[in-house]
Amino acid sequence: MSRTLVLAANWKMNKGPAATGEFLDPFLASIGSQAGACEVIVAPPFVSLPAAAAKLAGSGVALAAQNASQFDSGAYTGEISVGMLQELGVKHVILGHSERRSIYGETDEVINAKIKKVLDAGLHPIFCIGETLEEREGGKLETVLRTQVRDGLVGVSEEGLLNSVLAYEPVWAIGTGVTASPAQAQEAHAFVRSLLADLYSDEVAQKVRIQYGGSVKPGNSAELMAQPDIDGALVGGASLDPKDFQALIANALA
Ligand code: PGA
Repeated sequence: MSRTLVLAANWKMNKGPAATGEFLDPFLASIGSQAGACEVIVAPPFVSLPAAAAKLAGSGVALAAQNASQFDSGAYTGEISVGMLQELGVKHVILGHSERRSIYGETDEVINAKIKKVLDAGLHPIFCIGETLEEREGGKLETVLRTQVRDGLVGVSEEGLLNSVLAYEPVWAIGTGVTASPAQAQEAHAFVRSLLADLYSDEVAQKVRIQYGGSVKPGNSAELMAQPDIDGALVGGASLDPKDFQALIANALA
């Protein structure tokens, strides 16, 4: 089964509108045909989405948001709705990131509501899952992943799943410089795919793309992407520099 690689930049709380333009000008000039050989996605902070949308028009690089509300509109101070994101040209929304789970208390139930809201609008969730070091060392890797996948996808149809990308991000590898070994990542990805096969079907599971995230860099993207069940990367730190992100993409495609 050949699945198109999906490489996404998660800038987190970095780069306002001016810095977004400063990144995208050289980045778009340098990626050339690579944007057609895989799917490239950039997720700036909310306030930088209009600046990014203007630069990305016609580039083949898609725009993502880093979060969205599970509600449509109303008295939700500080929140941003899916409809507002859609108006700005956003195509993908990162949901369930471990920072949202641990710092902002997002539960599997809330993440599930957000996934369904994004899918209902015809946008594409990037649904993040992953275990902490304590959970891994305590032998709970499979239990944690099973719960996150099952509860995050409650009521999500086969079509909805196929419109989503999953991102396996071991929490201990995010922003730490410690990357899961290709073998560790592959093992977790294969397990996540088996969970999808149980919940849906093997045929559907084989079509779903599962990104790896956690200290992906230009120096390790090739080896990680060579694993049979790794179909892309969700990149934080190494996506902040246009040269690094371009090199990471080039190596992933090599
Ligand atoms: P990192 O972040 O590449 O800086 O480890 C990945 C992520 O949080 O998506």
